[in-house]
Amino acid sequence: MRLKGKSAIITGGASGIGEYTVRDMVKEGANVLIADINDEMGEKLAAELNTEQTNVIYQHVDVSNEQDIEAMVNRAVNEFGKLDIIFSNAGIGAMSPTTDLPYEEWKKVISINLDGVFLCAKHAIKAMQQSGGGSVINCASILGHVGQAATASYTAAKGGVVNLTRALAVEYAKENIRVNAVCPGYIETPLLNELDEAMKNHLISLHPMGRLGKPEEIAKAVTFLASEDASFVTGANLLVDGGYTAQ
Ligand SMILES: NC(=O)c1ccc[n+]([C@@H]2O[C@H](COP(=O)([O-])OP(=O)(O)OC[C@H]3O[C@@H](n4cnc5c(N)ncnc54)[C@H](O)[C@@H]3O)[C@@H](O)[C@H]2O)c1
Repeated sequence: MRLKGKSAIITGGASGIGEYTVRDMVKEGANVLIADINDEMGEKLAAELNTEQTNVIYQHVDVSNEQDIEAMVNRAVNEFGKLDIIFSNAGIGAMSPTTDLPYEEWKKVISINLDGVFLCAKHAIKAMQQSGGGSVINCASILGHVGQAATASYTAAKGGVVNLTRALAVEYAKENIRVNAVCPGYIETPLLNELDEAMKNHLISLHPMGRLGKPEEIAKAVTFLASEDASFVTGANLLVDGGYTAQ
């Protein structure tokens, strides 16, 4: 068990990539706080995974609200005694031609997908400094590395996450706090529910491996980055994309 005795926060932990990462980290022995706005799914997952051996709790958190983030970190420290890992994963999708994109929509996507990652890092790193170190993992995307039409706000936010990850890694390297990001290709999660079959087939064709990724394949990469197996890995943006960006 690679995360025995560790405690983790996973934002957006009620669904998709976050849910599978909660499951993987619990399997590896971590205590986990699931943070999400979907209370029904978050509570259900926590109830399913909480056991005498592993403490799994749920808290309602909107990652674009700094008070929620502070309360989330405080709760994790109070419940688990310390915070070792945070996976800042909560995010929303957004597609619109840029000329039709209302400024309010742009701000919403930036506030959840980029500001939320900053706020989590700000408060989680303070807690990690108290206990002598930790591992921050951010969820970026292939769209932090390459562009795609009609995704201006999403792509700008993920590009921000990629370079924020590097800046934080450099800033806290000497304090035993590693900061990395995982950059998924298109993954079969509810985020893709709104796409029609033709669009899904198009996306499949863009991945050299000829399929979309599975959320558990991202979870494995996140657990690796969280674990001591990645003890010399910081500032990395780990692409898990079936070759999408290699072409
Ligand atoms: N699915 C993909 O193809 C794909 C590809 C690259 C990156 N990503 C990224 O992976 C992350 C997870 O996405 P997913 O595909 O698992 O989607 P998902 O919709 O299954 O899960 C996202 C979770 O985030 C939660 N959430 C949304 N807004 C929130 C907020 N303001 N505060 C707290 N929680 C909030 C949702 O309730 C949900 O549980 C996102 O950051 C997304 O951008 C996904």
